[in-house]
Amino acid sequence: MADSSGKFTFEFDGQIVEARAGDTVASALYRAGRRIFTRSFKYHRPRGLLCLAGKCPNCLVNVDGARPVWASRPSLGAAPKTTSMSGNTPR
Ligand code: FES
Repeated sequence: MADSSGKFTFEFDGQIVEARAGDTVASALYRAGRRIFTRSFKYHRPRGLLCLAGKCPNCLVNVDGARPVWASRPSLGAAPKTTSMSGNTPR
């Protein structure tokens, strides 16, 4: 739930991340310093934000345990619990 300044928090891989009204998961994580969102399937090369339009596989995350969604697409709702797709992806 957002406070009067429009800020709220959500959980990502067990860490609390601050978000602002209108943020996507990707924009909030990027502001928090995350640059690697997924890793390539075969060689596990780091993948960062690329299109920010839900057109590439670089930012898939799980939100509230549901099937994967693009972190750059949905605006954050009420404090979701999100996880990366490839376990603990280093920043
Ligand atoms: S950065 Fe391409 S879909 Fe999110």
